[in-house]
Amino acid sequence: MADLDEGFGRLDALNRIGNQVFYSNLLDPLTGELSEPLLKGNFARHDAPVSFPPIWDTPYFLWAQYDASVLNELVRNAGEALGVSAKINMTAAAPGRPLFASSIRLSDIARFEELLRGTDPFSSEDAGGRKFTGLVAPRWKDAQEKFRGDPAWAIDEKLVEQGRDLYRAHCFECHRGPVNDAAFDKKWPEDSFWRAENPDRSAKSEKNWVEVGGRHYFNVVQMPVSAIGTDRQQSNVLTTRRVHLPESLGLNPEDDLNKAGGCGLLADKGVDPLFVLALMDVVGKTIDQWVIANGTSEETKRQMWGPRKNCQNQRVYVGARASHNGKDETVLALEPQYRARPLDGVWATAPYLHNGSVPTLRDMLVPQAERPRSFCVGSRAFDPVKVGLVTKAKAVESCAAGLTNFDVSLLGNSNRGHSFEGKETDLTKLPPGVIGPELTEAERRALVEYLKTL
Ligand code: HEC
Repeated sequence: MADLDEGFGRLDALNRIGNQVFYSNLLDPLTGELSEPLLKGNFARHDAPVSFPPIWDTPYFLWAQYDASVLNELVRNAGEALGVSAKINMTAAAPGRPLFASSIRLSDIARFEELLRGTDPFSSEDAGGRKFTGLVAPRWKDAQEKFRGDPAWAIDEKLVEQGRDLYRAHCFECHRGPVNDAAFDKKWPEDSFWRAENPDRSAKSEKNWVEVGGRHYFNVVQMPVSAIGTDRQQSNVLTTRRVHLPESLGLNPEDDLNKAGGCGLLADKGVDPLFVLALMDVVGKTIDQWVIANGTSEETKRQMWGPRKNCQNQRVYVGARASHNGKDETVLALEPQYRARPLDGVWATAPYLHNGSVPTLRDMLVPQAERPRSFCVGSRAFDPVKVGLVTKAKAVESCAAGLTNFDVSLLGNSNRGHSFEGKETDLTKLPPGVIGPELTEAERRALVEYLKTL
């Protein structure tokens, strides 16, 4: 089957990284051949494209990626560098050419992350004045300045107030309190984004903010993909892609990660390891090799790594009971998740959902079956009323030259899930893919107005 057209603003980042690292990097540099035929199977189709995510606040997210896959930021970032074809020796160790020697500029990568992060918001004495200081979300009111006099950019404060209440009622459960809304924090001080615990979330593993090695991380809410009901193709990469590793690399991801990070990863019965774990292992070794090659001090090394271990997500890689020859045992099971993020700056990030399948904020709030079935991507035109891409009332068949058509019927492009529909208000009784009752047109308007101000 052919690759799925990624179009503008999307990339199947994880599969592409996998193809670079476990296929292209394993081609013999002289002959261009693979050392064993089995490695051919390491090349995966690009069929799980995701929107380029906004990166403000992400250094503070316990899980930055849509699928909550890689915990440690240096591993995440160095993995991305490998994906965009940093040179690395994965074929033959020789004197002066150790395995995993690379052209990655790791200290620059660590520095970028530091710049994005800014100072720890919890280092401020003033609990009321907590805020992010690194890269921060764009503000509607700054954009509004540029369109002064255009009524479409004006904010209706009354609607914002109604929207705030609706947000508290329908969105808070997963997106948590807004990052930057003093009026919300005044009205619901217990529910503030900046509180270490919220009353609905006081279990130890479910605190709002967790501390790892003295640093604070926002514990983004994760939802099983089966419950949120959005396209599962991206989460399948975590749970189904496996790669064959040449023996010469000396890798055993499960053991290596458990040894290096005490990850507590359960034994896996697959012949070949899961791709993401193999990637975490390769990147870990690449970082180790960089540290050796650069004679990095222990102190600098600690700083570059940050406090988070190179471990998998316990929620995704869970233990399940299984019977084998009459004996009960715990085996590795996989339960993919997508994470919700705080919605600051969300007005500037259309199209929505991890796969970019919903063109505007308004369309996020209508029942899933009423969302646009196709739209054009790539234009810089912006709709300040529905907030997002400019769409036509009718489904489009072709897009202007230079734009790409987003067709939600294709594999990986589903715009389903995260739907407000039906009349059920008991959240425990909602069917998969539905997260709240249908909103009225007036409620949608108020919510969109509020989201603009975040
Ligand atoms: C039950 C949990 C839950 C509730 C309630 C919820 N969301 Fe979400 N939201 C999520 C998850 C999980 C995602 C990520 C889904 C994905 O990308 O596939 C998400 C994604 C989004 C996105 C897309 C962000 C992006 O990356 O493009 C927007 C916008 C959004 N939600 C708005 C809202 C609004 C507005 C409300 C309230 C009216 C709300 N959500 C209520 C869980 C929730």
